Amino acid sequence: MTTEEPLLEVRGAAVSYRTRAGTVTAVDGVDLTVRRGEIVALVGESGCGKSSLGRAVLRLEPLAGGEVRFAGVDLGTLSGTPLRQARRRLQMVFQDPQSSLDPRRTVGQIVERPLKVHRAGTPAQRRAKVAETLDLVGLGSRFLDRYPAALSGGQRQRVGIARALVLDPELLVCDEPVSALDVSIQAQILQLLLDLRERLGLALLFVAHDLAVVRHLADRVAVMYLGRIVERGAVDEMFALPRHPYTQALLSAAPVPDVAVERARSVPLAAGDLPDPLAPPSGCAFRTRCPHARPVCAEVTPALVHDVACHRQDELPPFVSPIIHSGG
Ligand SMILES: Nc1ncnc2c1ncn2[C@@H]1O[C@H](COP(=O)(O)OP(=O)(O)OP(=O)(O)O)[C@@H](O)[C@H]1O
Ligand SMILES: [Mg+2]
Repeated sequence: MTTEEPLLEVRGAAVSYRTRAGTVTAVDGVDLTVRRGEIVALVGESGCGKSSLGRAVLRLEPLAGGEVRFAGVDLGTLSGTPLRQARRRLQMVFQDPQSSLDPRRTVGQIVERPLKVHRAGTPAQRRAKVAETLDLVGLGSRFLDRYPAALSGGQRQRVGIARALVLDPELLVCDEPVSALDVSIQAQILQLLLDLRERLGLALLFVAHDLAVVRHLADRVAVMYLGRIVERGAVDEMFALPRHPYTQALLSAAPVPDVAVERARSVPLAAGDLPDPLAPPSGCAFRTRCPHARPVCAEVTPALVHDVACHRQDELPPFVSPIIHSGG
C-alpha cells in the first residue's frame, strides 16, 4: 500500500433502536475516517446520533448496517481473542466522570481494572503502569489511594482518561468529555488531550454538541443532523466558511465574546426544535428549519457532494462567520 490506510474507517454505518413508539434510526449511513494521530470531531445537537455512532465504533452498540474497520480489519468479522485484542486498541472516555467511576474503588483500582480484565502483566508491572499513566494525565501516584468522591470534576475526568489510556490504545472515542465541567476546567482537559496526542500519537474521535469546543482541538469536523453527516471538512475551513445551512446555524448560535459582534451578527438561521426522530422529515431532514429550503429539499435526500449534503450549496448567500470576525 502506498498511502497509509486510515486507523478507523466507518462505512455506511447505521444504528437503530426499537422503541414502543416505533423504530428510531439514530445513525443513517455515516461514512467517517480517522487517521493515526488525528483528532476528528463529531458535532451536532442533542439526539442527532453522536453517542450512538461513537458506541457503534466500539461495538458497544450493534450496527444495523455498514461496517467499522479498524487498522484495515472489519471488527464485525472478529470474535473471541482477536476481538478482545482489537478492543484494547480503541477505548472510550465518557461524558460524566461522576457516574462512570465506581465510587467504591480507589483511583488505583479503577485505572488498574482494564489491565486485570485483559490479564495484562504481573501485579508489579500493573502497579508501575498505573503509576506511569496517572503521571501522564497530570495526577501522579499520590492519587492512587483516593476515592472518586474526594476528587474535583477535572481530576475525575483525568482518572477517566487514565483508565482509557492504560491499555495503550491507538484511538480514544471521547463522548462529550468536558461538557459536564466548568469552562476553565474544560480548557485544561482539552489541553491534556492535545498533549496526549503529541506524546502518544493518539487519535481521537471527539463528540461535542458545541462547535466552539472543537475549534482549537480538532483537525477535521463532521457535522451531524438527525443521524446523517451534513458537512465535513478541515476545522479551519469550516469555521471560516461553513457551507451547509445547518453548520452556519450552529456557528451563529455559538456564543461570541465580543459584544459588538454579538449585536451585529446575523439572526440565528435555524428556528424551531429538532424534528421527531420517529418521523423524520422526507428529503433533507434539515429542511423544516432551513431558511433556504425549496420543494426539491422535501423530495430528495441530498448526498454528500464535495463534503456538503445540500441541494442548494452552490446558491446560498455568502455567510459571514461571527466567530472569525470576533478575532476570538
Ligand atoms: N437506548 C436507546 N433506546 C432508544 N432510543 C435511543 C437509545 N439511545 C438513543 N436513542 C435515540 O437515538 C437518537 C440518537 O441518540 P444519541 O444519544 O446517539 O444522540 P446524541 O447526539 O449523542 O445526543 P446527546 O447530545 O443528547 O448526547 C435519539 O433520538 C435518541 O432518543
Ligand atoms: Mg450523546
